Amino acid sequence: LGMEKIIEEALSGHVGETGGLITGLRHVQERCGFVPGETVRIAAELFNISQAEVRGVISFYADFRDAKPGQHHVRLCVAEACQSVGARAIEADLQDRFAVKMGETDAAEFITIEPVYCLGLCSCAPAAEVDGKLIARVDGQRIADEVSS
Ligand code: FES
Repeated sequence: LGMEKIIEEALSGHVGETGGLITGLRHVQERCGFVPGETVRIAAELFNISQAEVRGVISFYADFRDAKPGQHHVRLCVAEACQSVGARAIEADLQDRFAVKMGETDAAEFITIEPVYCLGLCSCAPAAEVDGKLIARVDGQRIADEVSS
């Protein structure tokens, strides 16, 4: 299936539902791994709203990503408790190791690093989530091991 067709299918079942746009966008992300740019136009047409409104919804919800993610997904906690024990140093370390900036994916599409604001592990900070797995007292080496295992 072409990307457009996939997007249309993911969205069209939710037209007219309460919160249908959000549900539909979630399905797009599940199927594509992200919300491709053409979703804006397709959703605007299907839901009969402006493209600006669709863009607003996509940018309001932090869960939606607008670029293809890397093979591995790291969410690094940068909230206060983690910052106070070196979260920013881990961010710098990851930047060195993988040539990737916070909020971005590296050129080889190997790793995506995103900030998160508390993972509920403040008492054993710093914390990160790597491919869905929570890791306490994390450091750059631990993350590197995790994504290369
Ligand atoms: Fe990082 Fe709570 S502040 S886990």
